[in-house]
Amino acid sequence: MDMEKQNSAISKFYEKSLDDRLKVVGEFATLTLEEIIALKKYAALDFDTANRMIENVIGTTQLPIGIATNFIVNGREILVPMALEEPSVVAAASKAASLARASGGFTVKADEPIMIGQIQLVNIADPSQAAKKINEKKAELIELANQCDKTLVSFGGGAKDLETRILKHDGKEMLIVHLYVDVRDAMGANAVNTMAESIAPKLEELSKGKVRLRILSNLAVRRLARAKAVWKKEDIGEDTVQGVIDAYSFAAADPFRAATHNKGIMNGIDAVVIATGNDWRAIEAGAHAYAGTKEKGRYVPLTKYYKDKEGNLVGEIELPVAVGLVGGATKTHPIAKIAVKILGVKTSKELAEIIAAVGLAQNFAALRALSTEGIQKGHMKLHSKNIAVTAGATEDEVEAVAKIISDEKKVNVTRAKEVLDEIRKKR
Ligand code: MEV
Repeated sequence: MDMEKQNSAISKFYEKSLDDRLKVVGEFATLTLEEIIALKKYAALDFDTANRMIENVIGTTQLPIGIATNFIVNGREILVPMALEEPSVVAAASKAASLARASGGFTVKADEPIMIGQIQLVNIADPSQAAKKINEKKAELIELANQCDKTLVSFGGGAKDLETRILKHDGKEMLIVHLYVDVRDAMGANAVNTMAESIAPKLEELSKGKVRLRILSNLAVRRLARAKAVWKKEDIGEDTVQGVIDAYSFAAADPFRAATHNKGIMNGIDAVVIATGNDWRAIEAGAHAYAGTKEKGRYVPLTKYYKDKEGNLVGEIELPVAVGLVGGATKTHPIAKIAVKILGVKTSKELAEIIAAVGLAQNFAALRALSTEGIQKGHMKLHSKNIAVTAGATEDEVEAVAKIISDEKKVNVTRAKEVLDEIRKKR
């Protein structure tokens, strides 16, 4: 497809057949026939591939991948593959992105991919003196760390900085060394852990202490991604502008609400992280730790909302997004490779930026629905289809059963079975 003409605002994508959807996405992302076939196969992992990924494999499980449409990110039209089990999320992200198009979509910016390796030193007689010694040898330690990953260094990455922290727990002090590593297009766990292990003996020697942990931190505060969007008041209505701001205030004032607010953000973020074969537990850990530490003593929402001078709604998000394009499942999982291709990203930074945009879109969609009509109406429509299938409805019967039980607000299997019987008797 001609890049100039690319447009992610695909009309009624949800009404298209699987073949038509694949045709649209295939043309958008110039997928090969093999890639289209892989998507259509519904089971991408054969035993050998799966067995290389983890131990003791006995099978695989699957999640649907949906395409969120309408995204414009830093001026680029983007289709977003999302892997998750929850209904309404893909549709909500697409709607939020569609409403942001009038003001140019999402503006995004991610930090350089700097990860933190932590090395714990205990049993040190004088931690301040040990910290001083380590800091004096900073350049040497960085050089030592870089010895173990020449490839990363040749791509412009590698260890860049080092800091010491003295922490106290249970009456005992320990010295923690932070090694800051630019991991380029990797998630970075392997590179960082290897470097942390490689400098540990030298740190032991300098501190005259004992080394314990040598592991990366998922609180990747030097690898933040940010996204911003403006939703025009003419498009969403003044009540929605205020509704979203009120919903944000609630989350900003209350950790009980902030947890759910952030869960909604992660609905979108995790779905892209999983689709691209990345480590979603790492992303979850980083996101919630960031929400719990960015403002002292309080767990806060990862987004914020305010009005601009014209009264439009402005939304912003900021969180650590440590994702990679090399190594791990991103390169071994056939569907993850296709997801990356659909996104058209070439660097881990670009992927992090799109992920931040999706998180913001997802949150806006949830707050818009919650602060106005509520989320159950939309949710129930899809849920009632699942219930209809569980009650035994065939493909021809699903729509009719789902409509009746959702209109009646009796979305349960017992009622679905009754409705199904009634429909069949009338035939
Ligand atoms: C449900 O998966 C997510 C929401 O609860 C998020 C929110 O409350 O903001 C709808």
